[in-house]
Amino acid sequence: MIQRDIQLDESGRLRHFLTTEGLKRQTLLEILDHAEKFTSVADRSVKKVPLLRGVTIANLFFEPSTRTRTTFELAAKRLSADILNINISTSATTKGESLLDMLRNLEAMHCDMFVVRHSRSGAAHFIARHVAPHIRVINAGDGSHAHPTQAMLDMFTIRRHKGRFAELRVAIVGDIMHSRVARSQIHALTTLGVQEVRVIGPQTLIPRAAENLGVHVYHDLQAGLSGVDVVITLRLQRERMTGALIPSEREYFALYGITEEKLAFASPDVMVMHPGPINRGVEIGSEVADGPHSVILEQVSNGIAVRMAVMSMVMGSRFGEGQEEQ
Ligand code: CP
Repeated sequence: MIQRDIQLDESGRLRHFLTTEGLKRQTLLEILDHAEKFTSVADRSVKKVPLLRGVTIANLFFEPSTRTRTTFELAAKRLSADILNINISTSATTKGESLLDMLRNLEAMHCDMFVVRHSRSGAAHFIARHVAPHIRVINAGDGSHAHPTQAMLDMFTIRRHKGRFAELRVAIVGDIMHSRVARSQIHALTTLGVQEVRVIGPQTLIPRAAENLGVHVYHDLQAGLSGVDVVITLRLQRERMTGALIPSEREYFALYGITEEKLAFASPDVMVMHPGPINRGVEIGSEVADGPHSVILEQVSNGIAVRMAVMSMVMGSRFGEGQEEQ
């Protein structure tokens, strides 16, 4: 069983960031407010603040990534931390070194933080339980369990466009079953108090007990999209599928692909989101991905500020405490 309170210290402050599940609304809002302060750093000629100077961070990506790994690296650099990108495929794990032995060696090099992506659900929690007390762990995606910084950058993007969460209807469309992003988003959205979260997809791609997460389940796209303010599209996560769960990509796109025509069922000012990577013509049409409702690339940009916020918060540093200038 995955422990959920390991990420908080005795005072209830973030010590690790492993999941959005169980976190208080106040903590989620604190991350969003803190990230808001970091957005201006990108507009400076020198895009840096000295908040984490002297801190050493290791990016440990056991699974492929473009957005998450890169934005964690940029976030660390903008906080003036030193960051190591460990290449797992050329590391000594290929010679039989265990994960824990690898971590012990990185601890011996005085690393202060591990950013971890792993195909196994619970990997980040496992690492957080086994590292030295001063090390901080951030989950950059573990199996189908959680991707908390992705969920928070999505919440940040939603708040920037829509202001308040309370009146929003949000639909998450696609492969909910295998999606760590959907799980983390659902926990964050319900904690932040949106009016309704809907999940839309074929029966084979929706977990059986989805309603227990506080969502409404739709198998019909038109009904599910009706009147929603936010549409979050997800790709088919084939790397986590066992067996054929959809008849064909062509049929899937016909039934669940987000096109301009289908988007017309949503609210006129609907925003369209996708955590990436996108598969054009499978879960989303190009005219929508590149269209006026899409905020997909804005999500990527916002990922830097949100990751800066999370990294500084787990290190106990707050922006605006006299350390703004380099
Ligand atoms: N959204 C996301 O996690 O993308 P990457 O796999 O490229 O990091």
